[in-house]
Amino acid sequence: MARIGIFGAGYVGIVSGACLAELGHTVVVRDVVQERIERLNAGELPIYEPGLDEVVERNRDRLRFTTGVAAAVDNDLLFVCVGTPPTHSGDADLAAVWTVIEEIPPGTRAILVMKSTVPVGTGEKVRAALDARGLVDVGYVSCPEFLAEGTAVRDFLSSDRIVVGAYDEADGDAVEALHAGLDAPVLRTDVPSAEMIKLAANAYLGTRISFINEIANVCELVGADVQQVARGMGLDRRIGEHYLRPGIGFGGSCFPKDISFLKLLAGNSGYHFQLLNAVIEVNELQKRRVVTKLQKHLGSLRGKRVALLGLAFKPNTDDLREAPSIVLAARLLAEGAEVSAWDPVADASGLLKGVRLGASALEALAGADAAVVVTEWPQIAELDWAGAKSVMRTSLVIDGRNVLDPHELKRLGFAYDAVGRAESALSLLPETQEPEREQH
Ligand code: UGA
Repeated sequence: MARIGIFGAGYVGIVSGACLAELGHTVVVRDVVQERIERLNAGELPIYEPGLDEVVERNRDRLRFTTGVAAAVDNDLLFVCVGTPPTHSGDADLAAVWTVIEEIPPGTRAILVMKSTVPVGTGEKVRAALDARGLVDVGYVSCPEFLAEGTAVRDFLSSDRIVVGAYDEADGDAVEALHAGLDAPVLRTDVPSAEMIKLAANAYLGTRISFINEIANVCELVGADVQQVARGMGLDRRIGEHYLRPGIGFGGSCFPKDISFLKLLAGNSGYHFQLLNAVIEVNELQKRRVVTKLQKHLGSLRGKRVALLGLAFKPNTDDLREAPSIVLAARLLAEGAEVSAWDPVADASGLLKGVRLGASALEALAGADAAVVVTEWPQIAELDWAGAKSVMRTSLVIDGRNVLDPHELKRLGFAYDAVGRAESALSLLPETQEPEREQH
């Protein structure tokens, strides 16, 4: 079993650390933010991730959290799990990565494992920086993470694949061996290819979402139901069912950022990545389409009350980064609407200025002219819609995630609009048909 030091107690660092401890390794997770480490040591998780607390608790004897750099670097493998946010130019800010490299003391013998999402070519730069510091006994391996928030523990312990891109075969073997307890194929590549796999995978998934969103928008015009269309497409094994769920656009800390990274990386290297421009633009427009739908039903939104149900960028997370809800709220306020909102977990108090946050869905819905389903939390899909109707001023629901039963809503007397489900197509739906839910 290996001794692993993890730099960065963020999302990737905590989940990877806990899961590597679960596999039997001894792990030290280090972060510069003292409060974060104190909370972790007190048994409190700074992120909301279903199932993670149990894995952390179960492996307490093999999992330590510290602010001390010495305890982290004194290990066989050093995992880099720090943030790489975009700079003003949109490129990845690698400052935190360089800090980790500077913290490695002379004479260290270890393997540096890059988990953070970085531009292609970073491995080469890090290798050169290590060599320049005389750290020739520090190997370098790119082992990108494919953890989705909300399912991260499962994504780690039941990975679809493990990608290992190494300069030195023995270093790659050591990283591969860490994952011996997992039943997942290991793909050995060169370093730039491993870096590209991560960016390409996220960009492709985002492309599928923008594609199905555009199909949905056309469905509305031609009288088709995108739920049926997506199902019919997904059953083709060459296409598959995942990431064909239409909605009000993708968000989160990964897709928007990584797609821009890849677009810029291509541009900086002399290639104009046209498709990604469209993927980004479609996504931006998709977030705003709800406003047009509301106007179709309510006319001018000035003085109208709109309740946003769900704020997190997707269910099972409290993450509001790049959440479509934020753009939507800002657009509605700009149209002169009064906006209220509720999310079962995410705390938007510091973020959504001018938005009245309800303590419950019904509180947010009180007096509203429209309810907009922004995030497909089960609590929202299963809401007491009859109760909702009784507190609303106007009975209108815009289902931005196609999770409600149109017949039920209509039976209750709501005007119902969704994404890619033309009125004509909805009226032909069998009564029992439930909207598709993806298991991802
Ligand atoms: C994503 C990837 O799924 C992970 O594999 C990757 O490791 C991670 O980014 C990362 O780079 O760290 P995540 O951002 O947590 O994970 O979320 P996803 O579940 O992939 O969803 C992203 C966005 O797409 C959400 O806003 C979601 O609502 C939207 N989405 C997803 C759709 O609109 N339709 C779909 O069919 C699927």
